[in-house]
Amino acid sequence: MFLSCTKGININLTNYLNYFIMKNLTTVLFLSIFISLSAQNPLLIPQTIESTNINLTLQNGTNQFFTGQTTATMGANGNVLAPTIIMQKGSNVNINVTNNLGQPTTIHWHGMHISASNDGGPHTVIDPGATWNPQFEVMNKASTMWYHPHLHEFTNEHVSKGLAGMLIIKDDEEAALELPRTYGIDDIPLIIQTKDFDANNQIIHDSNSDDVLMVNATLNPFKDVPAQVIRLRILNGSSQRVFNLGFTGDKTFYQIATDGGLKNTPTSLTRLKIAPGERTEILVDLTGMQGQTLQLISYASEFGNGIYGSSSPGMNSSMPLTGYNPNPLNGNDFNILQLTIIAQTANAVTTIPNSLVTYTPFLTTNSNQSRSMTLSSVTGGFQQLNGNFTVNNVSMDMNTINVTIPLDNTEIWTIQNNSAISHPFHIHDIQFNIIEYNGSTNVPAYLQGWKDTVLVPSGQGSVKVITKFEDFADDTIPYMYHCHMLTHEDGGMMGQFVVVDPNASTVDLYLNDGFSIFPNPSENTYITVKLNEDIDNIRSYAVVNSLGQIVGYHKIHENEINNMYSLPIFEYASGIYMLKLFTESAIYQKKFIIAK
Ligand code: C2O
Ligand code: CU
Ligand code: CU
Repeated sequence: MFLSCTKGININLTNYLNYFIMKNLTTVLFLSIFISLSAQNPLLIPQTIESTNINLTLQNGTNQFFTGQTTATMGANGNVLAPTIIMQKGSNVNINVTNNLGQPTTIHWHGMHISASNDGGPHTVIDPGATWNPQFEVMNKASTMWYHPHLHEFTNEHVSKGLAGMLIIKDDEEAALELPRTYGIDDIPLIIQTKDFDANNQIIHDSNSDDVLMVNATLNPFKDVPAQVIRLRILNGSSQRVFNLGFTGDKTFYQIATDGGLKNTPTSLTRLKIAPGERTEILVDLTGMQGQTLQLISYASEFGNGIYGSSSPGMNSSMPLTGYNPNPLNGNDFNILQLTIIAQTANAVTTIPNSLVTYTPFLTTNSNQSRSMTLSSVTGGFQQLNGNFTVNNVSMDMNTINVTIPLDNTEIWTIQNNSAISHPFHIHDIQFNIIEYNGSTNVPAYLQGWKDTVLVPSGQGSVKVITKFEDFADDTIPYMYHCHMLTHEDGGMMGQFVVVDPNASTVDLYLNDGFSIFPNPSENTYITVKLNEDIDNIRSYAVVNSLGQIVGYHKIHENEINNMYSLPIFEYASGIYMLKLFTESAIYQKKFIIAK
């Protein structure tokens, strides 16, 4: 039996009733929630900050999500959510983030190509009462990014309580296209989230019972939109849930941008899967539809197993996620937003462009390193859905650098999912291109373009990506890669990488023991390098002269791995050199002298 509760959610009535009985709510509460579900609220459009001087104040607040008790929330420059920041490519921004939360946090600019010290990851803590002042040049193309806290083990709590904002980057290339770009009118930000609330209307952040859907912190939202082409900038800001976007009547829409910017041509779709952390921009042509309504829906009934949002999140129903079911959003179609179509504006865009921007992906022939990242949850093996969460069999450790990447490396990463649930894998600093999806080079059209987060299919699924680590090196502050399901990220499915410039003079992180060189000084044509027993296999080495220039670099191939190496030095003039050995986790260095 299906229940159509006014303009709101269509759900299976039996499940729905069971759900509330299971949740042990009283009839009174049941009715009050029922009534609030049926109300339609105008979509909140976050205020914008469009300036190179940006001031954000993180604060605790309250919000009236339901009738009755208010909800304790967190926001920036307001009670809940954060302003939409609009930046221009090439501009230099100066941001002040003041933390009035009464507890430490960080603010991370998700998707942006910036130095590790400006990235706002878990090491860049803003103490209570303190102000953090990142300053950087905006290097990304026109795109929809977002920003959110990233304090290790507290990311989910801070984001769930409301700290998340959109970040729109503009550039000349985008400005030259005929696209809707009147913010809040025909260019609309949608931060889609599901949350769980307790009986006192308070947000429970560590929960799989996230049964309340909101868009821009608005429950049961509607938005008046003009009868023309509109642009929706969509962010899945949920802690865990994946959405399967579509419109009533399977109306065709056009994806024009992925996480990191515009595509070369619009992709016409009737469904679009969006996982936590991902963004997408779509055009919907509403020309001639004045007076009608259109629902943006998540067709979650179409999800197969292995996705958070399907009726059963795992490979089968025998090992459910604690608290996951019953939940009316799991495996059922539900409304996200009602579009109420009103009169056209002046200068309306009424056609979908045929082409967008030139898209030049990274070339696999330029790759100089491959790595694999295996996502698993340890305690229960393959079937276990609840953790402990690992990448390459280790959980996040703030004191361990998991990967060291030489600056300017082009790398291919294979992300392998060894668990029963799909994980959205995210890499800081860079945008990547997907070159293989589940072993096939036939990458689904909606995943083609610039990406920084990708849902890696469950049960031995894999995604292969290519990227380049350029412009920013820092041997002390790491960037993160992680699952963007915030419970998994906080639970340890995260690792740290540093991008190092072998030419850089600051060598604080470089370890001085780890190997020996002999003879030293040497007058021979070879030196011998012997690794200590406790160091990892070396992946490459560099010889740097006294001017700091790399005069020799060699990648260690699989068949060369050893604990003793003979390095040719006959090409080098007499002098003092530094030998740097790169392992997966560290850089070791030692001086040696050539005296011929
Ligand atoms: Cu959106 Cu590391 O995060
Ligand atoms: Cu990020
Ligand atoms: Cu995950």
